[in-house]
Amino acid sequence: MSSGSPNLTTRGRVSSLLPDFPWDTIADAKRRAEAHPDGIVDLSVGTPVDPVDPLIRAALASVSEVPGYPATHGTPELRAAAVDASKRRYGITGIAPEAVLPVIGTKELIAGLPRLLGLGGGDLVVIPEVAYPTYEVGALLAGTRVLRADGLTRLGPERPALIFLNSPSNPTGKVLGVPHLRKVVEFARERGAIVASDECYLGLAWDEPAVSLLDPEVCDGDHTGLLVIHSLSKTSNLASYRAGFVAGDPALVRELLEVRKHSGMIVPLPVQAAMTAALGDDNHEQQQRERYRRRRETLRNALRQAGFRIDDSHAGLYLWSTRGEHARVTLDWLAERGILAAPGDFYGPSGTQHVRIALTATDERIAAAAARLTAA
Ligand SMILES: Cc1ncc(COP(=O)(O)O)c(C=O)c1O
Repeated sequence: MSSGSPNLTTRGRVSSLLPDFPWDTIADAKRRAEAHPDGIVDLSVGTPVDPVDPLIRAALASVSEVPGYPATHGTPELRAAAVDASKRRYGITGIAPEAVLPVIGTKELIAGLPRLLGLGGGDLVVIPEVAYPTYEVGALLAGTRVLRADGLTRLGPERPALIFLNSPSNPTGKVLGVPHLRKVVEFARERGAIVASDECYLGLAWDEPAVSLLDPEVCDGDHTGLLVIHSLSKTSNLASYRAGFVAGDPALVRELLEVRKHSGMIVPLPVQAAMTAALGDDNHEQQQRERYRRRRETLRNALRQAGFRIDDSHAGLYLWSTRGEHARVTLDWLAERGILAAPGDFYGPSGTQHVRIALTATDERIAAAAARLTAA
């Protein structure tokens, strides 16, 4: 059907509900950065660049001959591996294997969650003030109201249906401590809200410990109304495989499973096997963390030397950086040096004075960026 078809025109396009795709607005800065004689250093996206560990690739290949449909709920081995890894790596206890559900990368789960939970018209979804854009997208696709708020007082008498948390945060690297998380859980229980905590950077805490929403210190072991969303994209370099899982309240997970079963939202079996291997092995995950730690040190020192201030950024894959000017001015300054960053306004109106600088480039490119930043 052509894009000018009467059906689409009369019904209205779903895409018109959504914000403009912001990356088009930095195309000019990208062109300028690409013109650098030593090539662009693209630090605008958080996409992994280091190869997938051989152990994970072998697991993927090991079931590539299997022809049948995989289970939407995932294999028992995968769910057990998710439970074990959550305990071993993050101290999360009490997740029942039934309360784990693999997803086709966490972006699709986030974009679909308000809809999968049956939210709509009169409902309110709360997202962080400066946020990964997909929380808002999920709310808009379900037709709910959206409120950006980092503190509960901003909510007044509202009774939100869903509160998205993201700690450690993309883009700011801010970590929510136990007292804050406890307050959110208490508030949500009083007002009947579901809390969904996106924890894809939990394993990348640098100078502040990061805790899960399901940590017993936070929820006293009661997972009712709580979900955590874990991606393997960053910690295991599996962005290309599309691999993540959601876990928490068994009743909520069962409901998500039912709807996803009917919709065919199934993680491919080879990816399930790869995830099982990745969750069962902490070596590759620790090696990757050390790579990012080194890159962060190099970039952080160079940015400070170049007069940037780095705010928050205690964890995760980004340096939330400012020169005390509008993000687009900083973007141009960086582009002249062949470096591409993401302007903070991508993440909400409060982000206009910052740029987000990703640690996801090779050692060689990070060294090139540092040299350019510190050149006289
Ligand atoms: C905060 C946050 N959540 C979710 C995702 C999506 O990860 P994936 O869909 O690869 O699991 C990202 C990716 O950058 C992210 O930064």
